[in-house]
Amino acid sequence: MKASDQTCTVTVDRITDLSPTVREFTLRPDGGAVAHAHAHAPGSHLGVEVPVGERRTLSRCYSLVGLPGDGVWRIAVKHLPDGRGGSRAMWRLEEGARLQVRVPASHFELDHRATEVLLLAAGIGVTPLVGMAQALAARAAVRGDMKVRMVQVARSEEELVFSDVLSEALGDRLRTVATGAGQALDIEAEIAALGPQAQLYVCGPATLMARVRGAWAAAGRPAVQLRFETFGTSGAHAAQAFTVKLPRHGLTLDVPADSTLLDALERAGVEVLADCRRGECGLCVVDVLAVESGTIDHRDVFLSATQRAVGQQLCACVSRMSGRAACIVLDSSYRPDATA
Ligand code: FES
Repeated sequence: MKASDQTCTVTVDRITDLSPTVREFTLRPDGGAVAHAHAHAPGSHLGVEVPVGERRTLSRCYSLVGLPGDGVWRIAVKHLPDGRGGSRAMWRLEEGARLQVRVPASHFELDHRATEVLLLAAGIGVTPLVGMAQALAARAAVRGDMKVRMVQVARSEEELVFSDVLSEALGDRLRTVATGAGQALDIEAEIAALGPQAQLYVCGPATLMARVRGAWAAAGRPAVQLRFETFGTSGAHAAQAFTVKLPRHGLTLDVPADSTLLDALERAGVEVLADCRRGECGLCVVDVLAVESGTIDHRDVFLSATQRAVGQQLCACVSRMSGRAACIVLDSSYRPDATA
């Protein structure tokens, strides 16, 4: 079951290669859903049912790129040869393909009261921040007290996708960092340069998020002024198949390397709440009864470091098991707030 279940059909209008590894898809929603295309807030994402076979789809969430206004949705997908299969399936699509999507939703919203904002994007994490940069630049243009700047990080110059659009919006308030060219991101210095009321919006892999959270806390900044989103797919280990046992349901399931645990549970008819499907909202948290072999590869940004270390819960949408013949025992039905 999903919190946002309103779906519609879209047509892939245009496919554009932005770099050797990033492809942009322009999606035109059918009929009445066009209204949603005009309404999405910066930072919103689109749930896409990605076809991987005649009857099988993978549920994936992709950030909407840019501000609404021309009746289409734009997403950009990084090709991940060792990923769980969603990006490879997206890259097999051709113009004219038809897809089922869930209408835009957002867990990553701009605070319209902010007077100073730093946007920090790494890799494909730039996608939700494009619309934010455009919105903030427009706001700064009419408000003398508004400060906005952005740092965009990628492995190479050619992987700095959307830097042209960002440069147009931000001018010299955009700084790019190509790590493969010997340039480095100094997170502590970026944070130190901010005023006391500044907000930081970050999107990138979980490893970057952990560094930023640590630096933000070490600088004594309020947690509420740090807002983030991650890809939810960048674990400590490559995705591999594992086994999950559900004693409450009398089930033992194989989770293939190209499937999330959540997808496997849903295919087996096990009801799990879910919304963001990116390891952010925490709705899909399930209880761990035992780890029979292997280790949990937490890939979310919802659980705290302590919760991860204790290992009694995991986010089914992104986290998985690693190790030889890995097997975990779960209780999918536990919900503290549902038993109150
Ligand atoms: S569905 Fe949001 S964290 Fe899993």
